[in-house]
Amino acid sequence: IIHFKIEVIFLKSIWENDCIIDKRETLESDINVSTLVIGAGMAGILTAYRLALLGEDVAVIDSNRIGGGQTKNTTAKITSQHGVKYSTLERQFGKRIATAYAKTNNRAINDYEDLISSLGIECDFRRLPSYIYTMTDRQKIIDEYTSAKRCGLNPVLTEKLEIPVTPLAGLCFENQAEFSPLKFIAGISDYLTIYENTPALSVDRHNTVTTAKGKINANNIVFACHYPFLNFPGLSFARIHQVRSYVIALENTPKLNGVYKCIDNGGISLRSYDKYCLFGGEAHRTGENHRGCYDRLFDKARELYPECKQVMKWSAQDCKTADGIPYIGKFPFTNRNLYMATGFDKWGMTTSMVAARILSHLIKDGKANCSEIYSPSRFHIHSIPTIINESGTAIKNLCMEKFYYPNASIANLHIGDGGIVSYKGEKLGVYRKSENEIYFVSTKCPHLGCQLTWNSDELSWDCPCHGSRFDYEGNVICGPAQQNIAVKIDLD
Ligand code: FES
Repeated sequence: IIHFKIEVIFLKSIWENDCIIDKRETLESDINVSTLVIGAGMAGILTAYRLALLGEDVAVIDSNRIGGGQTKNTTAKITSQHGVKYSTLERQFGKRIATAYAKTNNRAINDYEDLISSLGIECDFRRLPSYIYTMTDRQKIIDEYTSAKRCGLNPVLTEKLEIPVTPLAGLCFENQAEFSPLKFIAGISDYLTIYENTPALSVDRHNTVTTAKGKINANNIVFACHYPFLNFPGLSFARIHQVRSYVIALENTPKLNGVYKCIDNGGISLRSYDKYCLFGGEAHRTGENHRGCYDRLFDKARELYPECKQVMKWSAQDCKTADGIPYIGKFPFTNRNLYMATGFDKWGMTTSMVAARILSHLIKDGKANCSEIYSPSRFHIHSIPTIINESGTAIKNLCMEKFYYPNASIANLHIGDGGIVSYKGEKLGVYRKSENEIYFVSTKCPHLGCQLTWNSDELSWDCPCHGSRFDYEGNVICGPAQQNIAVKIDLD
């Protein structure tokens, strides 16, 4: 048990504070559509919009609100500069794939600008340069410069940054962009049929999706729900894991005219929004919790801006694939018309737009430019170590759930504590909110059975295997798990 009390001040993103999206109805009856999109986040909404433009009869459902998943938590940098992506892709897969990745993500920036201007969406879209930099490994930046150039991009080497660091090297991509994601998604959602608070409970082999009050028959189903929750077909659990990262909004910082990311281990990211600096970092695999993420991030911020003041904080969760390229396209191992868009890592703005282009053309025309590099059916030899590693993590955490029994008891818990305890021979997850308010959960993840861990920074139960998360009352915050984990216990 961790004896640690935190005061949760404002675990809410700056975008939520700034934009209220009109509520949509829950699905109340059976419907038939040509294409159903599951997930009203950026990828789902953009895909549905492009399908509607192509004349497709499309509806969107979401278990929560429009943009209520990871879209509300992104820092919303619209850039084809994805860390040291091009040197990595070129080294592992060759120039052709790296170039296709560059071309598709670069075009996505223009797609946003065109869409925003044609629909007149006011979403604080701004063109500006994007920078990566290093304090430790100059060669990485040089390699990225060389690869990005070979891929047809126009990178510029620089050591002069407007943020107060002295890097060994930096790399600039001009003419990238940033915006407010919820204002954008609110604008584009006006054109779509969307049902909120309508979780997909099951999907049968005839492509019928069951929700609480209605069934949806669809020729095509797009899983744009962050992590595709179907285990079969697709085997996503063997190929996708999730990572968390943290953001704080700072006052008393200068307005930045670029977006920034340090590529070193433990590196930070920065952008401005309004009078705030959005300062991100402290990334780690979901479920491998190290308390104090926000405090450490704020310490790093004060090293750069000693006068800064923290006014908001929130976190994000990203899916990573085995080979570092998103899965966009038809589910593997099936002839059914099931499609997925996932594994965007931390670059979900441009890759959502890439997904929208590819999926809309695959569904309408049966083919799409560059779809093969994103195909979920691909297999690269470079994925093998990651897949082996993922299997090892899953086995370890399945064993923890089966064989680990804690010594701690409920009496050990102080107010504000959470942890795994034994109670009458049973293993339980417990959070003590106040002297008499105690919440119990099962420690077994309902997805595939790994043992959950307590996240004391955010008062949640997180799964180290594939990244499901639950609040302290046991409600699902983030899949692939779909069931809640609350346990009712009457204390003696
Ligand atoms: Fe897969 Fe928990 S998310 S076992």
